[in-house]
Formats: sequence, C-alpha cells, structure tokens
Amino acid sequence: MKNSSLRNFVIIAHIDHGKSTLADRLLELTNTVPKTKMRDQFLDMMDLERERGITIKMQPVRMEVEKEGKKYILNLIDTPGHVDFSYEVSRALAGVEGAILLVDATKGIQAQTLSHLELAKSHNLKIVPVINKIDLPQAQIENTKEEISKILNIEKEKIICISAKKGINVEKVLDAILEKIPPPKTDFQKPFRALIFDSQYDPFKGVIAHVRVMEGEIEKGEKIFLISTKTSGKIKEIGFFKPYLLPQKKLQSGEIGYIVFGIKDPEKVKIGDTVVKFLDFQKFSLKPLPGYKIVKPVVFASLYPKDNKKYEILRSSLYKLKLQDSALYFEPEHKKVFGQGFRCGFLGSLHLEIVIERLKREFGLELLISSPSLIYKVIDKKDKEILIYSPADWPDPSLIKETRELYVKLEIITLVNFQSKVIEMVKKREGKYLKSEFLTSERVLLIFEIPLREIIIDFYDELMSKTKGFASMNYEILGFKKAFLKKVEFWIANQKEEAFSKILPENKAFEIAKEFLKKLKEVLPPQQFPVALQAKIGAKVIARETIKALRKDVTAPLYGGDFTRKKKLLEKQKRGKKELKEKGKIKIPSEVYLKVLQ
Ligand code: GTP
Repeated sequence: MKNSSLRNFVIIAHIDHGKSTLADRLLELTNTVPKTKMRDQFLDMMDLERERGITIKMQPVRMEVEKEGKKYILNLIDTPGHVDFSYEVSRALAGVEGAILLVDATKGIQAQTLSHLELAKSHNLKIVPVINKIDLPQAQIENTKEEISKILNIEKEKIICISAKKGINVEKVLDAILEKIPPPKTDFQKPFRALIFDSQYDPFKGVIAHVRVMEGEIEKGEKIFLISTKTSGKIKEIGFFKPYLLPQKKLQSGEIGYIVFGIKDPEKVKIGDTVVKFLDFQKFSLKPLPGYKIVKPVVFASLYPKDNKKYEILRSSLYKLKLQDSALYFEPEHKKVFGQGFRCGFLGSLHLEIVIERLKREFGLELLISSPSLIYKVIDKKDKEILIYSPADWPDPSLIKETRELYVKLEIITLVNFQSKVIEMVKKREGKYLKSEFLTSERVLLIFEIPLREIIIDFYDELMSKTKGFASMNYEILGFKKAFLKKVEFWIANQKEEAFSKILPENKAFEIAKEFLKKLKEVLPPQQFPVALQAKIGAKVIARETIKALRKDVTAPLYGGDFTRKKKLLEKQKRGKKELKEKGKIKIPSEVYLKVLQ
C-alpha cells in the first residue's frame, strides 16, 4: 500500500550551490513559514551554520501543498554539503524516496556531489536534476546541462533551470517533486518499526529522536523499546517538524517525525537504531531495520578542559553532541600535564574544528587541544596488529616489523587546463594517478590513490590556489597500506615531552622535526642555562636547536671596583646555573603546549 499524498526527499548539492536558498523558497511556496517570519537559510538553525554559511546539521521540515484539488505532504531533510559530513547525507538518504540534485550553473557538478549522487542511486532514489543560479551572467547553463545529462544518462530537456534566489521556476521543482518522486511504501498493519536517523537533546524533554516510520503506527503514551541499546521508555510526545516541533497524536508508516521517550541519558539513544513497541518486540521477535554503515574516525585529538574542574561538563557535553553527531568518538584519558580529559576521534579536520567550536559556544568550555594525529597500524615481530591512535601508543622500535597507514581514493574535478598541474601536485604528495574521465570538453574528473596524511593538512588550500578555485575534491578511505613510519620524540633539556611526539614518514621526518624545533625555540621562555632541544628517532638525534641562557647581571648592584666580591658573585651564579642544569627541570608553561600543538 502507498500513502499517495506523501513525498520524502533530500537535496543533494555542493556547498554554496544554493540548497538552503532553494529550501527557503519551498518553505515560502508551501506557506510553511509565513513571509514575515522568513529569514535567509531558515533551516540552518545553528549560529555556527549561519555565520559560516554552511550546513552542518540537517534539519527536517514538513510542508503541505495543494495541487489540482489534492493535498500533499512533503518532508524535506536538508543535508550538509561538506566532505566531512557525507555521513549525515548517507543517513538522510535511508529515510527518503527521492533527491533533488542541485547544481550551480556557474560551477558545474562537484566531486562530492558525484559521490553523494552515487550513494542516492544505490538507495534507489528517484533523482530530480535542477540547475541553479541561472540569473547570474556567468551561468554556463548549456555546459552544465550537458554535464548532468551525461552523468545521469537523461535528455537535457528533463533538467529544470532555476534561480532559487530570485524565485525563478521554483514551482517547477515543486511540481517535479509531486510527479516524479514516488510516495513511500507503507504498511499500517505490520508491527511498528521506525528508524532513528538523527536526534537532539533538550534540557526539559531529554532526547528527541528524529525518525522515519517504516511500518505500522504509534501513538503518544505507548511503551517503546530501542532494539540495539535494549532500552525501554514511554512516549511523552510525538510529532512533526514544521520545522519547530509540532505535537501530534500519532505517527504512521511512511512519515517523518520526532519522538520524545522521556529518556534523559543520551547514551541510550543511538542513531541508526530501530524503535519498536515494547510488547511487539517479544511477541513478534522483531528484527532491527538495516542500520547505517558504521563510520570510523580517522583523525584523533585529545581535549582537556582548561579548568580541570570542568571535566564533568566536558563529559556530558560530548555525550549530548554525540546525539546529533554519531560519528563523534571519545574515551576518557589522563595526561600528567593536562589532567583528566578525552581522546576524541573525528571524520576529518573540519569535523574536528566544528566539534571544538560547538563545545566552546554551546557549552561554554575552554579547551586545551593536542595536535591532531591520524590512525596508524603497526605489525609487531609476532605478527600482531596494533592500532595506533596516538604517538604514545607506538611500540618500542625494536619490536616493530612493519608500519601501515590509511590510503584514500581521491577524486578531483577541475578544468582541463589545470589537469597537468593537479596531477603534478598530487604526485609530489605521494599520490598515484589512476585515471581520468571527461565530464565535458572543458571539465575533467581525475582519480588518484594517496596517503590520507597528505590530504588532511593544507591539501585543499594548495589545490585551490593551483587551480584558481576551479576544483573540487572528494575522498573515500580504501584501507591500510604499507608505509615507512617512525615515531619522532622531542626532548627538552634532556627530558622527553611525550605530548609533542609525532608519527612521521621516514623521508619527511627531518624536515618536519626541524620546523617543529624552530617553533619550540621561539615560544619557550629562556632559562638561566642553555636549553637543548632535540628531535630523536629511538636513540638517534635527527635535529637539534639550543635556546641561549638568560644572562642576568648579578654584579649590577655593586659599583666601584670590589673585584673579589664581583668574582665571588659570578662564581656563585655559575654554580647555581650548573646546579640548575643538573637538576635539569624546566617547567613548560601550558601556553607553550597551546602554541605549538594547535
Ligand atoms: P551549504 O549550506 O553551505 O551547503 O550551502 P547551500 O548550498 O545551502 O547554499 P546557500 O543556499 O547558502 O547559498 C549560497 C550562496 O549562493 C548564498 O549567498 C545565496 O544567496 C546564493 N544563491 C543561492 N541561490 C542563488 C541563485 O539562484 N542566484 C544567485 N545569484 N545566488 C544564489
């Protein structure tokens, strides 16, 4: 059976191609948000999103529209465009039947959009192709049409050309949603099963789960069960997104809405879990719905509260963030210099940046952050595989047989003119060129294999400057491959500073270590004695620097020519310095950690 008035869809678009603006127009056209209350990018609820102009979290919305006397309900799940948030996109795709593919006419299709499109196709979603920003003089409408028609294997005439900003042809998009996207398959008779595709935390209501109801129906007051966390609860509130929460009596098969279970503990509600009725679970031995691909973090960093007393706040904040960001990983950690904190895992560097920013803004936390490290693998001489999450986990070099690092499949779309420059740049960074495909006569898709380490830092900026901004990239983790990695330790005045240790490829270790020592030399305060800074691989020193001693004129208070007294004082100073040096202890101020690690 089908609920023929329902349409569930997402918009797949690259960052800045106009997804939020198109969503705004749809909200207006369907009178979901009255014009007087409308502000730009209505669905970007987070301050951070509005400031940066990017979508981080998807915000579902339910719209109602009437056509030829028939009423329709549209559920739009807005999705983020940045590569680190691809996971959010894949979650959204599991809850819908169709996708609007939105492409900026001045930019053409971008690498991440291509990969999201593939994902949408693998979920059998119906694709509605739309070209945006046709009002701009530099819009290349014909070329963009050619590109999309080639990729989707459709006629150019089927592509809708719009200006979301000016509202040109937006109603055609609305028509296409109604005509082309199929209604969800529904089954009201089967026992209730719903997929949690997202969740949020409310201080009063507790956890609010965003769900797509697959089968059956459920009402307020019923007792539920979460299959994977084996948690039970009673439904306190149920409803739709308008986009604010609008309470309802029940939710039915095919619908998208929210459920408040009265569960306060964020750990109990997992994204990808299945909600069923408590009694049904036993009676029908219900199985969970297919969940999501589990994503594994690849970038790790340690977070410590600047004020040690705030450890508990950091802990509960991380749990609350995880409700909305299931890809976030963390576990408690203790370090001598920082105290009690967490080692956290992220999907990429933007993910890390956003989490830190949210911890600061939404939870008022001031943090100490260690420099991010990737995940590595070591095979020891007994052939045991050890995953390395931080340099401190690195085994003694004499026990290591082989080291491995993560490789990715890297896709770059750029103009044909820049093709050789891009290939040269990727090769310099140890990438291997695999193949290319022409999207049009002017634009080309290049495919490489490259160590993840090479694209995490600076890569994007360099790509943009080499191509004058005419490039987009996307990557997918392939797995571990053999590498030649070493742990480089940093010693200050003959003391090892584990917090500074790094895992580096052998051929770049010297260069990077030297740079780091220079930075340390700049920020460490001078002492009464010369301080040796060393970078070591095992016992071997690979680079060194020295911070000169502070010269304090101990004889300054003396005037006149009391030579013996002067000599005495100088000797005393010399002794003192020697003692200090022997003690060798220098206290590294925490600002130094901050300056060199961030
Ligand atoms: P993310 O949320 O970061 O994924 O971006 P987005 O795809 O939602 O893009 P957004 O709607 O924020 O639009 C990006 C910029 O393009 C904004 O400055 C919009 O005003 C502008 N824009 C969107 N649609 C049009 C259009 O049809 N014409 C013109 N000229 N500008 C547009």
